[in-house]
This record gives sequence, C-alpha cells and structure tokens, in this order.
Amino acid sequence: MSQALDEIKIGGLGASRKRVEDNRFIRGKGNYTDDITLPGMLHMEILRSPMAHARIKSIDTSKAWDIPGVHLVLTGEMMATRNLAWMPTLSYDTQAVLATDKVRFQGQEVACVIADDPYIAKDACEAIDVDYEPLPVIVNPEQAVAEGAPVIRDDKENQRDNVIFDWEVGDGGGTHRAFEQADVISRLKLHYPRSHPSPIECCGSIADFNRATSKLTVYMTTQAPHIIRAAVALVAELPEHMIRIISPDIGGGFGNKVPVYPGYVCSILASILLERPVKWIEDKTGNLISTGFARDIYLDGQMALRQDGKILAVRMHCDSDHGAFFSDAQPSKFKIGLLHSAFASYDIPVAHLTARGTYSNKAPGGVAYRCSFRVTEAMFFQERMVQAAADDLGIDQAEFRRMNFVRDEAFPHRTPFGFLTDSGQYAKCLDVGLKAIGYEDFRREQAEARKRGRLLGLGISTMTEPLGAGNSREYDILGIKMFDSAELKVHMTGKAIVRTGARTQGQGHETTWAQIVSHELGIPAEDVVVEEGDTDTAPFGMGTYASRSTPVAGAAVAMVSRKIRAKARKLAAHLLEVSEEDVEWELGRFYVRSAPDRGVTIQECAMAAYSNMPDGMEPGLENTAFYDPPNLTWPFAVYIATVEVDPETGVWDVLKLVAVDDCGVRINPMIVEGQIMGGLTVLPSAWETPGFELHSEVVTPCPHHPIGAKGIGECAAVGGPAAYVNAVMDALSGTGVRNIDMPLLPDRVWEAITYRRDVSGVPPVRSDD
Ligand code: CDP
Repeated sequence: MSQALDEIKIGGLGASRKRVEDNRFIRGKGNYTDDITLPGMLHMEILRSPMAHARIKSIDTSKAWDIPGVHLVLTGEMMATRNLAWMPTLSYDTQAVLATDKVRFQGQEVACVIADDPYIAKDACEAIDVDYEPLPVIVNPEQAVAEGAPVIRDDKENQRDNVIFDWEVGDGGGTHRAFEQADVISRLKLHYPRSHPSPIECCGSIADFNRATSKLTVYMTTQAPHIIRAAVALVAELPEHMIRIISPDIGGGFGNKVPVYPGYVCSILASILLERPVKWIEDKTGNLISTGFARDIYLDGQMALRQDGKILAVRMHCDSDHGAFFSDAQPSKFKIGLLHSAFASYDIPVAHLTARGTYSNKAPGGVAYRCSFRVTEAMFFQERMVQAAADDLGIDQAEFRRMNFVRDEAFPHRTPFGFLTDSGQYAKCLDVGLKAIGYEDFRREQAEARKRGRLLGLGISTMTEPLGAGNSREYDILGIKMFDSAELKVHMTGKAIVRTGARTQGQGHETTWAQIVSHELGIPAEDVVVEEGDTDTAPFGMGTYASRSTPVAGAAVAMVSRKIRAKARKLAAHLLEVSEEDVEWELGRFYVRSAPDRGVTIQECAMAAYSNMPDGMEPGLENTAFYDPPNLTWPFAVYIATVEVDPETGVWDVLKLVAVDDCGVRINPMIVEGQIMGGLTVLPSAWETPGFELHSEVVTPCPHHPIGAKGIGECAAVGGPAAYVNAVMDALSGTGVRNIDMPLLPDRVWEAITYRRDVSGVPPVRSDD
C-alpha cells in the first residue's frame, strides 16, 4: 500500500500555503534598505534639474562645501575625471550620471552632496548655484522628428537627429497583398500613456567600500542583483569578485528597480572616495519624476478583414517615446521589446510591424512596468483593435474573438511575427468568462437601459502573454544570455535551504520555491528555507522581472530537486540493500518495488549522505542546476468588465469584473489570486477597486516547464486595461466615438459623449522657447 505523503498537507504544489514572508512584513519586521544603518554612515542627496532642456553654463558648489557637516559635493565635471560622468544603459545607449554639458529632462541628476545627515545634504544641494540656458523642449515623437527639431543627444558623435531606432518585423509584401484582398479595413490609432511603476518603497542604496579588504558591499533596491554586480564591475572597473550586492527586502519593484540609476553610481563613488558607507534614499518626488517610466507609445494599426469575420492580416506602426536616454531592459535583438507578440491570441496568416523610437526631453522611459518588454502595449492594442474590427463588421465581439482564436488542436502555433506559442484552451476560457459575467442577460439589460438613457458597457480582453525569457538563443540583456539557476542544500536532518538568483519584491518566492522542493522531494515546505538577493551566496541569475521567476528560476528549483532525488535514490538503494533499478519513488519515500513496505524516507537518505554513504560516493546532499528554458511560457487570460457611464459627468463605475486565468499548474493558488487582483487594481485605492470574480478551472500545463507552470505575475496588469477601456467604449457604442486614450478620466469621457468625438491623450505641444 502506498505510504506517499499528502502533498497539500506538506505544502507542495497546489497548497494555498500562507506566505511565510508575511510573518515579518505584517509585524513591521521587514528589512528594507532604509532600515540598514552602518557605523560611520554618511547620507547622500541629489540636486535635480528644474529644467527639461537647458545648457549648463556653470555650476558653483562653493556655498555647499562651506556648510558644516558636508563631506563631498559631486558634479558631472568631477565624475568625468574618473570616466564616470556617463554610464552605459541596458540598451547599449549612454546615460548621464551627473549632467555635464546639458540637462535633458526635468528631474535629471545634476550634483550630489554627501553629508552627516540627509537634511544637511538637502540644504547643501539647495546652496548649489547652477546657471542654465534654456533650450526648446520636445515632449513627443512628432516634435522629435519635426523639421528643425533640436538634437537632444548632441553628446553622441553620430547622432544627427532624435531617432534612436527604426525597426521592422513580419512580412511587408505578404501583408500588402492580404490587404488588397480585404472586404473591410479597420483602423485604430491610440496612445498608451507614460506610466510610473510607483512602488511603495523608492530606490536607494548603501555603498560600503572597505579599503583594507578592497571589498565593495552595496545594499540596494534591485530586482537583479547579479546584473548590477556585473554592471558595477564594468562601469567602475572593479573586480567582480570584490563586489557584493545585497538586495534586502524590497517594497515593490514592478520593473522600476531593474535599471542602474545615477544615485547608485554616485553613492558607490562617494564611498570609495570617502572610505565610509554612503546611504542614498530616493524621495517620492525624485522617484516620480526621474526613475524608469513605462509605455509612452503611439500605435497605429490596420486590420484586413473578410466580411464573414476572418482576420486576413494586420499592419502596425508604433512611435515610442524613450525620453532622454534609451535605457530599456530588453533583449538586444528586439528593439521594441516584445511588442511583436501582439495578435498572438489569434490565427492571423500574415502581419507587419514597423517601430520607431525617439528621444524626448522626458525622464528615461520604456522600462518595464509589470510587463515584460512592452507586452502590455501589444496586448492592449490587440484587444482594442479586435473590438474596433468586430464593431466595423457588425459582428458580436465575443463571437469575433472565438472565430479567430488559435484553436486548441493548432498548438504549437507560429504567430504572424514568428513566436511559437505552445498550449492553451482559449475558447474554453472565453466560455467560462462569458457564463460568469452573464453575457446574454447583460446584453439584454444594456439594450433596455439604453432606452432609458443609461449607458452600460461590457468590455472583453483575451490575451496571451509571453513570459519567462529566455531561451538563451534569443534572449539576452547586454549580451548576457537569459537563463537562471538554483542551489539546493539538504542538511543531514532533512531540512533544506534553496537559493536562486531571482529576487522577490513581494511576489512570495520564499513561500512558493519551498513548495516546489516539497513537490519534488516530499520534504515539508516548512522545512525548506528560501534565500535570494545576496550575490556572495545566491547562484547566478538574471533577476526577477517580466514574470520570469517561475518559468525560469522556479524551473531551476525543480531541476535541482530532481538532481538531489537522483542522488537520494542511490543512497536509498544502499540503505535498502537492493540495486537502484529496484527502487521506486513516491512522495517523500523510496521503496523496494517487490516489497513496498520496505522503504526509506527522504530524511533518512539525507542522514545517510553524511553518515552512511556507499563506498566511492561523494558525501553530502547538495547541488546546483542551471536552467535554460526551451521556450517562453504562454499563459492566457480572459478579463471581462461591465461598467456604467454617467452621461452627465463622464464618471464611470465598474459593475463586475470576471477574470479567467490559465497560467498552467498553480504552485500556490492563493498567491496566484493575489497576483491577479493586484494586476487588475494597479494604483487606485480600495475605494475604486471593484470586487473580482476569479476563475481557475482552466489549466493547460506548460508542455516544457518541469512542473507545468506558466508565469502569472503580470497577466492581469497586461490584459486588464483593455477590458475596462473596451467596456467604456462599448457603453458609448453608436455615438461614433472610436477611441478615448487612457487615462479615461471623467472629463475625457464627458468630452467624447458631449461632442461625439475621439479624445486623444497626446501631450499638448509646449516649449520653453
Ligand atoms: O517573476 P515574478 O515572481 O514576478 O512572477 P511569477 O513567476 O509569475 O510569480 C509570481 C508569484 O506567483 C510567485 O510567488 C510564483 O511562485 C507564483 N506562481 C504560482 O504559484 N503558480 C504559477 N503558475 C505561477 C506563479
């Protein structure tokens, strides 16, 4: 009879185990960068530019130096003497650490003061006198490419205009031919506005250089400690083994904490110069005006349609505004991230995308915000475009999606831009969603309400998200291939520690990685401690962003557990005095195939690894696995919102929100639900947050992931916005309004209703001329 452990009871896969990290968070015992105080620590503040574009005529720091308690004032000129005025970005561009020639966005770092406390440092910043000569300002791509536009990046030798890249993917000729065959061509133009990741904790670092040991330790808010270590080694020309990056608890990252920021670099240089620890904690204003923005993209698309509803082809152009420095973290071969994952949900024979990136006088943008590599923009555009096309054809929007979906039996499916999606049950998810929202009843109610002047709307978003870069063949950051690793050490009493190169920022890795070990080895999850974030102890990893942790680091945890199990099997054979081929595994225990009652537990094997190993076997029960995924994972989701719009004021309320997420096997269903709710809520307060109805009945395991899991962290933030906007647009159907750009503030909705016109969110043209 089986003596396998009950997986849910030991906290394995599928257990809604309470988050272990919350024990310290809800008691106020988290250990964030700002909680750390080192002996002799000094404090750094940054002087930021009040101007968006200006030439620096002079910087006078003399008054700042005179303030008692000031130890160092850093300017771009001083940084330049150490070749540190500029640093490389994650997209092969350069970014000013401290401005030398010009300031190129409002909030740009101009000088730093290091003082006994942050207040003295702040006062001293205000005592710095900068003489600016204002220059014309560019705030959107149209202005960036206009005749006579000032060249923002005149620091770059070969930069004659404001264009960063022109990129294309797909089949231009085939798309052109398909458009010639179309019965109807549907068109949509929109702007996905700049979004700020807005983590509760801002960025910060404490650099601690020890001259005696030549070791640099940096505590910092980073989602990718190993990448930062490599960047510091390359930029500061310090030996990599003498750099230790520690990423303590992080109060939310959402992509904001992937790049290298000037504050990090300046605190490191200051610590090296002063030989004392230097702490920099960004304030909220600094964070809001200067750190990695996301989105800011102008999309213009056309869809070639057959009268019966078949999508024949898609043509897209995008202009993306990257701000003053091109600092996106994205695979180097894809200039516009994975924007070309657009239309992955549908069976579209041919498509063509052109993308142009431009500089502007805004903070560096394009950095991810809870979305991998511009997938949010791709899916938002896909779902807005699909709704517009269904309306143009006069076909029901659910039906239009269903007839164009990739069918279950068509996987693996090559998308029109070349990705390979491997699994999904799209129509089934849609059916679950429509039933849950009460689709037919709502349509009747909507028609009735219309007669009485009430505007009800229903918006659908059905999206496929590419999550989990790499494979290393196609995905890299600055040439470093994307993969991950995990290290597992099982102690002699059967307790264990697992370490990965990922870095949780609130997602719950300390809980879920232990669940994977538990699933693979039968060690109760509470006996497994998870550690991340210290480059001296964690194995190499590319960090946590783009919902890649479960697809890559989580897979590495499963693979290293399997290596441990393979060794434990040899130990079991030795203990049971049978050959390895005669040993069977069930959760938590090996047994003799012909005598199932004779068995040894995984804990007994662990003890034997230290006390009774067979002759010739290496002692111990530890291992490391590097995992290079064969493909991305492709979760699918259906989000359906119903709303009521007040025609008098433009205010709209969400009536109901249904989410059907298929993220493959769920490690921890409770954590997955938290991720979905967070994504559907984003920044609004609890007051504005609707109730959610979440469905988990559709599970399509990822065919190549060792435990069948797909990523989930970003799905709702990626797919959610189109559901809300489509619902408001649906409420306005029949008015001739085709698009209102986000944010759908009441005044924009009111303007659209009142004047029966589209409302654009393009920033107004302004210049300090
Ligand atoms: O990379 P990041 O942690 O932001 O995203 P993720 O890999 O999608 O995981 C977010 C959280 O959900 C983690 O705690 C995962 O382990 C958990 N998760 C899960 O329980 N089941 C899945 N199929 C996917 C994620």
